[in-house]
Amino acid sequence: MMQATLFLLLLSLAVGAHSLSPRRCKLTGHWVNDLGSKMKISTVNQDGGFSGSYLTAVTATNNEIKESPLQGSLQRSNAKGQPTFGFTVNWSFSDSITVFTGQCFVDKDGKEVLKTMWLLRSRVDDIEDDWKATRVGINIFTRVQSQK
Ligand code: BTN
Repeated sequence: MMQATLFLLLLSLAVGAHSLSPRRCKLTGHWVNDLGSKMKISTVNQDGGFSGSYLTAVTATNNEIKESPLQGSLQRSNAKGQPTFGFTVNWSFSDSITVFTGQCFVDKDGKEVLKTMWLLRSRVDDIEDDWKATRVGINIFTRVQSQK
């Protein structure tokens, strides 16, 4: 009887500890978004800085799409898991810049998902065209197994 009580006590402690544990979401790795764009994020350093590469599936230009570098920052107070982050893609094939900001979530099936919003700034020749130079949108990224 005593043993059964002890067992139940330990079991309930284990279940409780599990439900309190933070849902871990890591940025490092390969991702694809809802447009089919592919992103690789290399190691996140101690300060939360990271770099990577981005291959967009679409462009606002008529230029040939090429892989482009990205630089980002992960929020350092990541003790609760599911951290916020931001990164900039400096397009190698156009005059534009895109900034993304988002959060790394673990969904109800345990899958990591990056929910982001972005601003794409295109270059215009004339200040009169400034009003139409910025696009805004959302992208949802899911992890893909690394292709070497
Ligand atoms: C450009 O057209 O000047 C550069 C490419 C922009 C691609 C945009 S960035 C936001 C959105 N998400 C993507 O994955 N691609 C588009």
